[in-house]
Amino acid sequence: MVSTCIQNICCIGAGYVGGPTMAVIADRCPNIQVNVVDLNESRIKDWNNSDLSKLPIYEPGLDEVVERARGRNLHFSTNVKSAIENADMVFISVNTPTKSKGVGAGKASDLRWVEACAREVAKYSKKHTIVVEKSTLPVRTAEVIKSILSSAQKEDNKHDEPKTFEVLSNPEFLAEGTAIKDLENPDRILIGGENISAVEALAQIYGQWVPNENILRTNLWSSELSKLTANAFLAQRISSINSVSALCEVTGADVNEVAKAIGTDTRIGSKFLKSGPGFGGSCFKKDILNLTYLCRHFGLPEVAEYWENVVKLNDWQQERIARLVVQKLFGTLAGKKISLLGFAFKANTNDTRESPAIMIAKRLLEEGAELAIYDPKVEGYQIKSCLSDTTLNVNNANSNKYTVNNDGRWGSAEDIYSSLKGADAALILTEWEEFKNLNWSEIAPIMRQPAWIFDARAIANQEAIKAAGLNIWRVGDGSE
Ligand code: UDX
Ligand code: UDX
Repeated sequence: MVSTCIQNICCIGAGYVGGPTMAVIADRCPNIQVNVVDLNESRIKDWNNSDLSKLPIYEPGLDEVVERARGRNLHFSTNVKSAIENADMVFISVNTPTKSKGVGAGKASDLRWVEACAREVAKYSKKHTIVVEKSTLPVRTAEVIKSILSSAQKEDNKHDEPKTFEVLSNPEFLAEGTAIKDLENPDRILIGGENISAVEALAQIYGQWVPNENILRTNLWSSELSKLTANAFLAQRISSINSVSALCEVTGADVNEVAKAIGTDTRIGSKFLKSGPGFGGSCFKKDILNLTYLCRHFGLPEVAEYWENVVKLNDWQQERIARLVVQKLFGTLAGKKISLLGFAFKANTNDTRESPAIMIAKRLLEEGAELAIYDPKVEGYQIKSCLSDTTLNVNNANSNKYTVNNDGRWGSAEDIYSSLKGADAALILTEWEEFKNLNWSEIAPIMRQPAWIFDARAIANQEAIKAAGLNIWRVGDGSE
């Protein structure tokens, strides 16, 4: 099959997706020069830090990949113009948050940065350039990109080699915390596009380490929609099991046992059935809201409502955990110290975007609690920026805002023990390995009795907690 051979890649956006993805491409394709550019100078400085523990994002294994490729064929800079000029292929990997105002506020994706990138590519490219959508985008965004690029194509008359473009969709399915593993050994690579030669040029890159049968080729719109659908399905499983967790608690069942029993049915499968404080992260909520916006736009309100409930249930799970803490602590948190163990939205990442810990912490602060927050990878300044916005999105699907009357105080604790010292309760919100085997008989005497352990991830050793004389609540456990 005829395909263009790619020698030089530019990626706009050095974030959680662009950075690790390009690092792995550069690692696996030493003959391709990969230039990752970003407007954020300090982020680029961090990517270039010779101390690999200071990379801007924490991902297991990322440092080794960067060490092998950086300076050889992986480069990080803020020079967008020159990176585009030299590129045969440009990945757009900028953020696409939910719009905060205007048409579609609270639901539609804000495409201003994607549009800005398309304009930059239109302006600076000098030859045939394949533009790859890496960011998660609403269906038919490729149309917007194409129309911006085609106007540049028409205006161009000064280059020897004609300035032409092809647009591909190549959504990223990596999960944070396992990004390198997911990139090196993906379940599938999805490439959507109309031009076979462009599709094959990208397939050839992934073909360096991914078996051809795992590289799926589809049309543009299927590819764009598959990404939103995949995230919606994953999120739906979490809301489903969380809804069952509440039912377990009142019926005497145990959600872990139920998850195991249903997950062994190969038609259901065992993954994404872990009950917890609700899903967080930059993608699930944003993508579902975006999906519901599209459904309404295309006159499908019933479909929109169906998916909106996945988000509503997720909000409810967080609310109910916060309420439960208040209730178990005799209806008031005023002056009580609560240790929050974990602030990241999941383990093995320092990312706090949409973390369930944010909503829960705000609720507890509203009740007057004194929170001692400990997370092994999240810095105090990150927690501060999450908690300084005192608005809460309640029922996000309907975009209702609520201002917290913040009576409590919080501080970030240096270590687990200082977070627990004198605490009336501990609330485990992230499934960090170090929270799984805590020495509860040592911890119990330093807490104020009667003390509670709220295990919202169902990871702690329940027997050891009980043996230490502590009260325990575990998500989805109705066996008490
Ligand atoms: C990704 C995807 O790209 C997004 O579509 C998905 O839905 C969420 O995950 P992510 O890599 O996590 O985004 O975003 P982020 O870590 O915020 O990185 C985006 C980067 O793009 C930032 O460093 C930002 O400075 C940069 N950027 C943004 C530019 O360089 N130029 C712009 O015009 C806009
Ligand atoms: C997700 C998708 O998995 C990935 O394919 C897509 O590219 C980006 O969005 P990510 O958000 O990084 O990845 O992490 P993921 O592992 O999916 O977890 C999302 C949230 O769901 C986390 O808050 C996690 O704790 C929660 N979760 C996950 C559960 O509560 N239970 C589970 O069984 C699995």
